[in-house]
Amino acid sequence: MCGIVGAVAQRDVSEILVEGLKRLEYRGYDSAGVAILDDEGNIGRARRVGKVQELDNALIEQPISGGTGIAHTRWATHGEPSERNAHPHLSCDEIAVVHNGIIENHVELRERLRGLGYVFASDTDTEVICHLVHHEMKSADSLLAAVQATVKQLHGAYGTVVMDKRQPQRLVVARSGSPLVIGYGVGEHFVASDQLALLPVTRRFAFLEEGDVAEVTRREVTIFDTDGNPVEREITESNVTHDAGDKGQYRHYMMKEIFEQPAALQRTLDGRLANGAVLPEAFGDNAAELLAQVKHVQIIACGTSYHAGMTARYWLEQHAGVSCNVEIASEFRYRRSHVFPNSLLVTISQSGETADTLAALRLAKEMGYMASLTICNVPGSSLVRESDMAYMMKAGAEIGVASTKAFTVQLAALAMLTGAIGAHNGMTAETQAALVQSLQMLPSKVEQALGLDDAIAALAEDFADKHHALFLGRGDQYPIAMEGALKLKEISYIHAEAYASGELKHGPLALIDADMPVIVVAPNNELLEKLKSNVEEVRARGGLMYVFADVDAKFESDDTMKVINVPHCDEFIAPIIYTLPLQLLSYYVALIKGTDVDQPRNLAKSVTVE
Ligand code: M6R
Repeated sequence: MCGIVGAVAQRDVSEILVEGLKRLEYRGYDSAGVAILDDEGNIGRARRVGKVQELDNALIEQPISGGTGIAHTRWATHGEPSERNAHPHLSCDEIAVVHNGIIENHVELRERLRGLGYVFASDTDTEVICHLVHHEMKSADSLLAAVQATVKQLHGAYGTVVMDKRQPQRLVVARSGSPLVIGYGVGEHFVASDQLALLPVTRRFAFLEEGDVAEVTRREVTIFDTDGNPVEREITESNVTHDAGDKGQYRHYMMKEIFEQPAALQRTLDGRLANGAVLPEAFGDNAAELLAQVKHVQIIACGTSYHAGMTARYWLEQHAGVSCNVEIASEFRYRRSHVFPNSLLVTISQSGETADTLAALRLAKEMGYMASLTICNVPGSSLVRESDMAYMMKAGAEIGVASTKAFTVQLAALAMLTGAIGAHNGMTAETQAALVQSLQMLPSKVEQALGLDDAIAALAEDFADKHHALFLGRGDQYPIAMEGALKLKEISYIHAEAYASGELKHGPLALIDADMPVIVVAPNNELLEKLKSNVEEVRARGGLMYVFADVDAKFESDDTMKVINVPHCDEFIAPIIYTLPLQLLSYYVALIKGTDVDQPRNLAKSVTVE
């Protein structure tokens, strides 16, 4: 959730730290801070509430410089967003700490440390790490040993970086449940919670494993595993091609990412379809053999990724001849469930670091699933490293907190999974070829759908004074309605709910009046007539509808209904195409409402805490 950057160099690191924080701001943005060790051996610290820009302004007014430093952008868990709760935290002006995650036993540790004479300056759980390291330094012979002794006492999740003014030119980092990456420069080294933060200074990275503690100096990086044994972690050259720091011509990352969808989809399809079939290798080297045995699929994900999984259930059961369950990760991980024979566990995640999804994967691995597959956008992320197979989405970095291009690329990946599994479960060569043909048309169809931009911008005006909205869909469009509702509530703060439209009469119809806009997704499919009946139920009760429909569906605008014709497309890819107008609608409504589109209140891009 929060973002961490650290650097040990011969040059001044303050700009590197602040630039890194700006690149991580999508992870959390209620406050930010830096601590830098200067040449005289003093720790200079600046912290500000609000965006990283506030911190940047403060540092322009009162610069802090030095060759070793740590920085943090925060998404509050323990303690309100305030300067005193912002990281880095200090102990006795000697130890500085930044931390992502949650220390579950912080209350008991706080009591113990108070008993030892430590005075707490914040309400955070992080501050216990700081004082604990300081305390351990009294008996340890190095900062490394003190951090190793400290982490043994922590319960919960942490990615943490520690600096000690008495041991200059070094950082000690520890990872358990919260990702950390080491960046290798020439005569300088860096750490961060996401490689994106470090792309301006290096492209060579090693990802720490669970339980690792590392000592990072200008010349050397030494990594130890949970048992304190020295270990090597592979250094890889980053192939992240997209420079996320640039919004280009767009006002917001979200809009840029919406318009990147044709290219993102093209990238994800390239080289993965051939001769009218899906190439199983798209899912990993050993996928052909494993996918051939699948008889049941269990999908686990959160938020938007969960909606992608919900859509896939319709596809897998209808076209691939296997049964499929889909569950929210935070529910799955705390209930007893049954594993069917030949079950494939599929996690879906843009970030690959979502704490609930990762915990669910770890649990599932002990439950006897045949194999695990992750559909993920971030190479080297925890889900990718811990799954048997991985489909790399190639959507490019997604910075806007509201997920857009990741969702449509996830859907394309799941459509491919449907083909790859279906090939072994009775899907005919003709159906497979038709599926592949639909997928190949995706980038151009998406481009056409984006042409609705102006029409939707005009439509958004109607929502400016609305407080609630209802989204309706049927079949594989029901999860698309759910995704539309999530987008609207997430960035415009309008309360929005989605219903499978057949459910209307079982309750939600009571909500219908002129102040409740009803958004309907209506492709021309076998459920169209049923959907039309539901539309009439709304009309009869004075509801005002916005219908995104195929031209052949023959809806006409009138006093109670505005119809927006969506480009005609194959039924299979319709969920992807109908997502686009809903993304645009939420974007324009948020613009009109003046909310922070890319960094909506209370949210963070990557949810690495439970
Ligand atoms: O990185 P993940 O795909 O695992 O993230 C899951 C959700 O947190 C995420 O999709 C969230 O719902 C988005 N902000 C929605 O736009």
